[in-house]
Amino acid sequence: MHQPDGKRYEGMKYNRCGKSGVKLPAISLGFWHNFGGVDTRENSRAMARHAFDLGITHFDLANNYGPPPGSAEETMGYILKNDLSGYRDELIISTKAGYDMWPGPYGDWGSRKFLMASLDQSLKRMGLDYVDIFYHHRPDPETPLEETIGALCDIVHSGKALYAGVSNYPPELTGKAEDLMKSMGMHILIHQPKYSMFERWIEDGLLKELRDDGIGCIVFSPLAQGLLTNKYLEGIPADSRAAKPTGFLRPEQVTHERIEKVRRLNEMARARGQNLAQMALAWVLRHTEVTSAVIGSSKVGQIDDSVKALEHADFTREELGRIDSILAGK
Ligand SMILES: NC(=O)c1ccc[n+]([C@@H]2O[C@H](COP(=O)([O-])OP(=O)(O)OC[C@H]3O[C@@H](n4cnc5c(N)ncnc54)[C@H](OP(=O)(O)O)[C@@H]3O)[C@@H](O)[C@H]2O)c1
Repeated sequence: MHQPDGKRYEGMKYNRCGKSGVKLPAISLGFWHNFGGVDTRENSRAMARHAFDLGITHFDLANNYGPPPGSAEETMGYILKNDLSGYRDELIISTKAGYDMWPGPYGDWGSRKFLMASLDQSLKRMGLDYVDIFYHHRPDPETPLEETIGALCDIVHSGKALYAGVSNYPPELTGKAEDLMKSMGMHILIHQPKYSMFERWIEDGLLKELRDDGIGCIVFSPLAQGLLTNKYLEGIPADSRAAKPTGFLRPEQVTHERIEKVRRLNEMARARGQNLAQMALAWVLRHTEVTSAVIGSSKVGQIDDSVKALEHADFTREELGRIDSILAGK
C-alpha cells in the first residue's frame, strides 16, 4: 500500500469548478495513453501514486481508454485497490461514454441504453460504486439531446455518478444541454474540450458560454500530445508518442512548420525561466474559466515538470502578444 506524502496539499492549487461546490486541482492526470493493457503496469502505478503525492486529486478516464479499450479503467481499479485504497474520498475520478466501445447498435454515441450500460461496465472495471463525474464524450448527431441529457440526470439520481459533464460539445449545443439539465432540476458541472496553443477553438464562444452558465472547464491535450514540449526539436525520439504504434499523435503531425513555432516558443519559455511544457500549461490556465488542465504523461518526471508550471503562471500583455505572433507565424 502506498503511503502518500503528508504535504501533498501544500503545493497544488485548487480551482472551483464553475459555480459548483467542488474544486479541482489546476493540473489533473489523464489515463488516455500509458495506462492501458499494452503498457507497463508498474510505470502506470508509479505515475498515479506520484501524481497523488503532488496533490493531483483528479484522474480522468473513459470507457475506451487503453488499448485495449477498457484496460485503463482496469489499471485504475488495480491502483485504487493496491495503492490508494482508503483514499477514495480524496479523489475525483471521472469516466466517459460516447465513442465506439462494443459491437452492434448499442455500443456507441449517446443513447440512454449505451450510457447506462457503459457506466455499469466502467464501475465494474474500476471496482467502484460510483464515479465523481460522468461525461457524455462527444455530441451525437442522431440521438435527441433530451434522451442523452435525461440519461445523465438519471445516472446522477441513481448515485452512480455524483456530477455530469459533457465533452467536445460546441458552444450552442452546450447551452441547449444546460437548459435541458436545468429543466430537469440539474446543472452541467463541467465541460471537457481540447485546448492548447495549437488548438484555440474554445476562445470563439465556448468560454463565454461556460462563464455565463457557471460551468467548469477542464481542457485536454494542453501540450498538443507532447508537441508543445522540447522533445521533438531534434526529430522524433524512439520513446515518444509519435513513434509508438498505439499513439494518437502520428509522425506526419510533427511538421516542419509546427516545429519552427515550437522552437521559438521554447526560446521564449527559457527566457521566462521555465520550459516549454510549463509555459504551455500556464498559458491554458490563464483563463479564469479554465478550472484544470488534464495532462498526459509517460514518465513520473513529466508530472513533476508539469506541476512546476504553477510556479510561474502569470503572463504580461507583451508575452501574450508575442505568443500570438509566433503562433500566427509572424
Ligand atoms: N475528452 C476527450 O475527447 C479527450 C481526448 C483526448 C484526451 N483526453 C484527456 O486528456 C488527457 C491528456 O491528453 P494528452 O495525453 O493528449 O495530453 P498532453 O498533456 O497534451 O500530452 C501528453 C504527452 O506529452 C508528453 N509529455 C508530457 N509532459 C511532458 C514533458 N514535461 N516533457 C516532454 N514531454 C511531455 C508525453 O508524451 P510521450 O509519450 O511522448 O512522452 C505525454 O504522454 C488524456 O489522458 C485524457 O484524460 C480527453
